[in-house]
Parts: sequence; structure tokens; C-alpha cells
Amino acid sequence: MSLSLIAQSIEGSPTLGLNKKFAILKAKGEPVIHLGGGEPKSKVPMAAINATIEHLNTREIRYTPADGIPPLKEAIIGYTEKFYERKVDPKNVCASGGAKQAIMVALQAVVNPGDEIVYPAPYWVSYPDMAKLCGAKGVAAYPEYGTFYPELKDITDKVNSKTKLIIINSPNNPTGVMYSEEFIADLVKFCSEKEIYLIMDDIYHRLIFDGRTQINPYKYEKENIECSKLIVINGVSKQYAMTGFRLGWAIANKDVIGAMARIQGHQTSGPSVLSQKGAIGALDGDQTSVETLRSELELKRNMMMDMLNSFEGVKVTIPDGTFYCFADFSFYDEDSNRLSELLIDKAKVLTVPGTGFGLDGHLRISYCGSEEDITEGINRMKWALDLNSPEEIKIGDQKLVRDWV
Ligand SMILES: Cc1ncc(COP(=O)(O)O)c(C=O)c1O
Repeated sequence: MSLSLIAQSIEGSPTLGLNKKFAILKAKGEPVIHLGGGEPKSKVPMAAINATIEHLNTREIRYTPADGIPPLKEAIIGYTEKFYERKVDPKNVCASGGAKQAIMVALQAVVNPGDEIVYPAPYWVSYPDMAKLCGAKGVAAYPEYGTFYPELKDITDKVNSKTKLIIINSPNNPTGVMYSEEFIADLVKFCSEKEIYLIMDDIYHRLIFDGRTQINPYKYEKENIECSKLIVINGVSKQYAMTGFRLGWAIANKDVIGAMARIQGHQTSGPSVLSQKGAIGALDGDQTSVETLRSELELKRNMMMDMLNSFEGVKVTIPDGTFYCFADFSFYDEDSNRLSELLIDKAKVLTVPGTGFGLDGHLRISYCGSEEDITEGINRMKWALDLNSPEEIKIGDQKLVRDWV
């Protein structure tokens, strides 16, 4: 079959094969544990549900403007004022089918084939393929080995005349680290001076720990929004546990937003009106669920850190936010794909290999699941890898013996 060059260049999700294996094992009744999740398990806020039902009950479920309905834009403007201290105009807001679509369409609005897009590594799995979808080249900027906190120089060293855009995701998927205020400030100023677009993928910005507060990139942007090349991305998926609603947005200058609306208009039209109504409910409603989720994640983060620190050979960087931890397991196996396969096959625990995030030897382990799953999952990993742990373990009614190390 002849497929396009772009289609041939795109990698499938690194978790897809593992998820398939997980589903098969689960269907067979195996006691598998998923520590590879990318979504909170808490309930969607009632305000979002009520707003969605209310609209559903009108039985008038129609198309909307490609960049979102005015009341959603108003709610997003309110959010931007609260968290970014910027009063933006509806022309500066584009609602999309998730933060993922907002990023993709923003890239399509500004990136040309042959351009380069720089992002710090480890990076979210989708950035390299999003670059390819635009015919552009993704360029990973690695910090010094052993740290996940890049210096400005790590990024600027990768910038050349082809660099059109830089993407920053902080706190970061997969590492959970939140970049310093100084780093963000310097990067905003650098991009502004060099006239390079800067996407701030802030999808996890409220899920931060240890008393941290959000970093506001606009504080360091001297330009008026219409002259600014800053594009801020956010959405309801993670903070409100509304991944299935598929609703995210971009804030940018009106030319970029206008282009995004035109592209989206031909690509998907506006996001589902039901999701837009649900997002208004979440944004304008009671915010308690966000703090509840955040504080629960912080406790689970602490729990997971304690458990991982008890492994002989695991090196962990404490996540500052998100619900991921990206631990160095190279002591056990430098090939994280092989290690992840071993863990699902022998210990029936799903973890995500570091290769898809640009760093082998590491596993991404999520703490968005239940405390029981985290405890049981990490205990099984320890049994599978750490020779200091007992040779036998009971999983359900099965007795397993470690016979591979
Ligand atoms: C860093 C990052 N950006 C964007 C997204 C996409 O979020 P959404 O579900 O709103 O499309 C994700 C989802 O995993 C993510 O981890």
C-alpha cells in the first residue's frame, strides 16, 4: 500500500503495544496493574456534568464557531486573567479538541516545512511527531546528564536560523519537574528578542506540589499581546479530570488565533458544543475538586518516592508536579523497552519505557491511580528487579518465583 511520506514518518504511541498487552492479560483475568496512565481517576466536577446535561436536554446539539462559543471564550478570558494576569480579547482565544489539538493547530498556523522546533528533553511523546506533521524537524535539547532541569544555554545552543518555535512543558510530562522562574523568564525574553514563537504547554500548571505557585510567562513579556509570539496552551483534561471531554485552548495574538480558527474550521470545525458547555461549567464552577486532586496527587507522589527510594538501584528526581515520575532504572537494564516488557510479562505491571520521551534507561511511572495499585505495583517491581527482596511473591492466588536475575 502506498502511504504518504508524512504517514510513514509518524510513530505510533509508545504505550499502544503495551496497552494492548495489558488489555489481553486483563481480559484473561490476570491481576495486571497499570502504572502507565495519563489521566486522573477523580470524578468530573458536578458543575461540568450539570452544564453538559442542561445543554443536552435542549436537544439542540449544533455546530459552533470553529474557535469556540462566546461564553466559553469568556470563561477562558476569566481563567487567563486569574492565572496569567492578562486581560485578553475573544480574538486572542481559540478553543480546540483538547490541548493536543490546540498545540497541533498552533504549529500548523506558524510553522513551515523545513522549519525547526526545539523542546527540552525528556519531552512529551507527541512533540516530535507533531513537528513531522508540519513537515518540520523536531530538535530535542538535552540538559546535562542526570538532571531534568535545562539551562537556557541547552536550548539556545539548538537555535539557528531555521528555528521557528520552542515548546516548553512545565511541569513536565514525563519528568514531573517544574522549570525555574528564572529559566522561564530568560526564555521568554530570548524568544521575544529573537522573534521566535514560544509555546507554553501549561496543561499541568495547577497540579503542582510543595507550596509552589504557577509561573506566569506574561510577566516577562514586554510586548503587547498583538505583537507577542507567546502562545499559552491549557485545557480541562488534567486539572478537572475531564480527558474524555477533549477540550483545550490557546491564547495568542489575533493573527495566530485567526489562522488557527481557519485551519480548525476545515479540519474538525469547532469542538463539540457539549464539551464546550462542560468546560464552562468546570471553569466557572466550584474549584474544590482541583485542590482535592492536587493534594491527593502530592500524597501519592510522596508515597511513590518513599517506595522507589527503597530500591537498591533506582535514581529518582522528585516530581514538582503532574502525576508522573521518570525514574532511572538503568542499573537493572539500560534498555527500557526490554525492562518494561519484563515488568508486564513477569510482574504484570505496566510502566512506560523512556525511549518515547527521548531518554532510554528510564521508566515513566504514574501515580494517578489508586494507592493500592501504586503500592502493589511498586512492590511487584521491587520483587522483579531488586535482589534484596524475597524471591517469591503472591499475586492473587498465584505464587510467582523470580527466576530471571
Ligand atoms: C504535555 C502534554 N500536553 C498536552 C497534552 C494533551 O492534553 P489534552 O488531553 O487536553 O489533549 C498532554 C496529555 O497527555 C500532555 O501530557
